[in-house]
Amino acid sequence: MNKTVKRGPPKPAGRAKARGAKALVKKAKGKPKGKAVVQTANVIAKKSVKPALKTRVKNAALDIDTGKPIKLKKGPPKPVEISATAKAIASASSTPNDASILPTDISVLAYCRAGFEPDLLAEIMSRMAATPKASWALPSSGFVRATFAAPAIKRLHSAVHEPMVFARQIMRAGLFPVALGTQDRVTPIVNAAETFLTNLNLPSVSAVWVEYPDTNDGKSLSKLAIALQSRITQQFQESGKISAQSGKRLHVFLTSKSEAWLGQTDIEFSSSWPLGIPRLRMPSEAPSRSTLKLAEAIHVFIGDDDERLFQPDMRAVDLGAAPGGWTWQLLHRGLYVTAIDNGDLRGELVDNAMVKHLREDGFKYRPLKPVDWMVCDMVESPSRIAKLVGLWLSEGWARHVIFNLKLPMKKRFEEVERCSMMIDEALGNKAERAVLQLKQLYHDREEVTGYCGFPPRAKQV
Ligand SMILES: C[S@@+](CC[C@H](N)C(=O)[O-])C[C@H]1O[C@@H](n2cnc3c(N)ncnc32)[C@H](O)[C@@H]1O
Repeated sequence: MNKTVKRGPPKPAGRAKARGAKALVKKAKGKPKGKAVVQTANVIAKKSVKPALKTRVKNAALDIDTGKPIKLKKGPPKPVEISATAKAIASASSTPNDASILPTDISVLAYCRAGFEPDLLAEIMSRMAATPKASWALPSSGFVRATFAAPAIKRLHSAVHEPMVFARQIMRAGLFPVALGTQDRVTPIVNAAETFLTNLNLPSVSAVWVEYPDTNDGKSLSKLAIALQSRITQQFQESGKISAQSGKRLHVFLTSKSEAWLGQTDIEFSSSWPLGIPRLRMPSEAPSRSTLKLAEAIHVFIGDDDERLFQPDMRAVDLGAAPGGWTWQLLHRGLYVTAIDNGDLRGELVDNAMVKHLREDGFKYRPLKPVDWMVCDMVESPSRIAKLVGLWLSEGWARHVIFNLKLPMKKRFEEVERCSMMIDEALGNKAERAVLQLKQLYHDREEVTGYCGFPPRAKQV
C-alpha cells in the first residue's frame, strides 16, 4: 500500500508540531509559513505552535517484515497486512518482556485512550517497520512501550515526529524503569534522568513533565505527579538543566507510586498538552457534548489556520447534524450551515437564519453549489463514510471535510488504514494535492476523526 496523502497548507517556519495522522514517508518540499493565532472560543489554553496542516507527504505504512513501503494496488482497497502484529500484541498484552535488552536498543513510549493499546502497538510497529524485541501493551493500561533492536533507529524520527492516529503523545524512552523509593522519590528520578539525558547528548531541557496513564488507577497518581514535577523542576533549575532554548522536554511517566519511565520529546513535534489531553471548555450553550469533538478536530488538524480556513460567510454542510453540536461550532465561526438530519436541532440553531435544517438522508443529499466545508458525524460503517468523503471531495462539492469514523471492530488500526486508502482511491488524481489526517482525539471514544481537503497555500513572505 503506497498511500498518497498530502498534509496541509504550508506551516509555520520550522515546522509545526502535529499529532494525529497517518504514517508518513516523504515530506513536502519548501517551508510552510506561519499563521495567526487561533481564537477558538473554547480552547482555553494554547501553549504552543498550532499544528497547521502540513504539506504533501506520502503515507508510509510499512511492511513489518521487509521495512519497505507497502504499495497501493489499483482496484478495491484491501486491509493492510501486518503479519507480525498479532503475535507481538498477544505477547505484549500478557507479561512485560524486558529480557535481553541491550544498551544500543531503542525504546518508545506512547500514551493512548485506555483500550486502544493493541491498535497503538500495531501502529508503532508499522511506523518502525519492525517487530519489537520487547513490548508492553497491557489492556486498558493507557500506554504502550516497545523496545526495538538498534537498526530501528533509522525509523525513530518518523515514529516520534510524525502525527499518529492512536498516540496522544509518543516519545523516545529509557530502556528500563526507574525504581522509586518510598521516602525519597525525587533523587532516583533526578539521577536516572541525568544519565538518560546525557546518553541522548542533551545538556538541558525546556521543561519537565511528570505524567501518568489516563485511567482510574493512573488518576490516583495525579497529586504525586504534581508534587514530583515541582521538586524535579526545581532541582533541574538549580543544576542549570532547564533552558528555554532547549526545545526538548523531559517526561517522567509514573506507572505506579514505585515505578516511573523516562521519555524525551521535541517540543515542536509533540503534543503541547500534558498527557496529550487538550483542555477544552464545554460551551454551555452548545446543543451537545459532541461539539467538543469538532472543536478539538479543528484545533488539532487546522491549528493556526483556523481563522483562514473558517471565514465568516463561508458555507458548510453538516451531515448527521442533530442535535447540533458540530453545526454550533461552524455557526460560531460565522459560517452558514445546511444541517442534514431527520432528528431535531436544539437551542439557538432552531429558526436561525444562518442554519437551514433539511430532514434528508445524508448519503443522498447533494449541495446545489459547492461549499467550503462538509462535516460528517453520521453513525455508519467507516468504509461507507470514507467513500462519501472521497465522493464529496472528488466531485468538488466541498473543499474541506472533517469526518468521524466509528470503529466498533477489533482491528481498528487496519480499518483506519483501509479507510484512508479508500479516500485516496476515490480522490484519484486529486490525491496529489489533498491533505489527509486521521487521529483518535481525546473526545473520541470508539472512533477516530479525520480531516481531508485542499487547504490554500499560505503566501510566501
Ligand atoms: C452522533 S449523532 C451526531 C451528533 C452531532 N454531530 C452533534 O454534534 O450534535 C449522529 C446523527 O447522525 C444522524 N444520521 C445517521 N444516519 C443518517 C443519515 N443517513 N442521514 C442523515 N442523518 C443521519 C442521526 O440521526 C444522528 O442524529
